[in-house]
Amino acid sequence: MSNDSFTLTYPAEIVFEPGGALKLAGKLTRFQRILLVPGTHFAKTESYREIVRSLSDYELHAESGIQSEPPLEDVDRLAAAGRRFRAEAVIAIGGGSVIDCAKAAAALIPLEGSCADYFSGQREIPGKGLFFAALPTTSGTGAEITNNAVLTDTATRIKKSLRHPSMTADLALVDPLLTMSCPPSLTAASGLDAFVQAFESCTSPKASAATRALAHAAVRKIYGSLEPACTNGSDRTARSDMAEGSLLSAMAFSQTGLGAIHGLAHPIGSLLHVPHGKACAILIPSMVSWNMSACADEYAAIAREGGLGGTAEDFLDACLALCRKLGIPAGFSEYGLNESHFDFIVKNCRSASMKLNPRPMSDDDVRALLGKLV
Ligand SMILES: [Fe+2]
Repeated sequence: MSNDSFTLTYPAEIVFEPGGALKLAGKLTRFQRILLVPGTHFAKTESYREIVRSLSDYELHAESGIQSEPPLEDVDRLAAAGRRFRAEAVIAIGGGSVIDCAKAAAALIPLEGSCADYFSGQREIPGKGLFFAALPTTSGTGAEITNNAVLTDTATRIKKSLRHPSMTADLALVDPLLTMSCPPSLTAASGLDAFVQAFESCTSPKASAATRALAHAAVRKIYGSLEPACTNGSDRTARSDMAEGSLLSAMAFSQTGLGAIHGLAHPIGSLLHVPHGKACAILIPSMVSWNMSACADEYAAIAREGGLGGTAEDFLDACLALCRKLGIPAGFSEYGLNESHFDFIVKNCRSASMKLNPRPMSDDDVRALLGKLV
């Protein structure tokens, strides 16, 4: 599996710098009116107040309270606030949900109609919206790099991406110091999401030498630092390595797409309200085992280049050990998964991610896998 030609598309500027968030003001000089979208938890921190103080030359309007697995209504609320404020730029400082919601709002503020119109395909995004900068406060989702926003229609419980090439952030500013207040459970779940995104990128048919190099480096960084970052949140080296690993993972998977873990995590997450990172983490052992026969060479390469051993089995063992150390449950029983949910999951798992999985899964295969996770 190798592509001898490839195109890479990224935000115009990607900055990785401890303390870099306080230099944001210097990157916004073309604008005057800024819509700030902080995460609910982060908005209460001293780090956030410092960033706001550093932007004192600008007119700011802040909107927080974005829900996790953001519903379309949250995008509409942000877009309405941005229009009322006549915002010229949108800055998200938060986890993946906050960044995705603000990313969609930045695209829709200059347009007419509701988020549901675009989510359903009734209207199309014609092109670039407002300038958008993303500052992640978790190490995991990669939303600062991707051109899509994962949103949920609460009426139908459909969770999928609103996507357009122009939605890619203009500036991705990854400052590891912003992740220092991320609690252990969220650090674990988002970190495992980054880990999954790295290895699913490698097994995508769209993987290239460039994306594999990024993904392998991501696996090495994440594997070595996730547990220390969870155990001691003020470990700056671990936080920095996690933030860098997550960024490298995003720079890989944003170009290649993902696999069946993400294909299944979306309907399971929206139906049973399982946080995205946790849903991905629970699926790791069974999906790596399922895919083993189709991509053993790729898994062996990940083990070798990621510092986890030399064989595909070493990679599986490393996955199992990491999930065990971080207390990831063996299935979805605590979320109430049962057979009555299988039809919905089978019907709604056929996303782009699912199509890129190295070993195809029939509806019966999906049911059999879910049966082991109840
Ligand atoms: Fe993910």
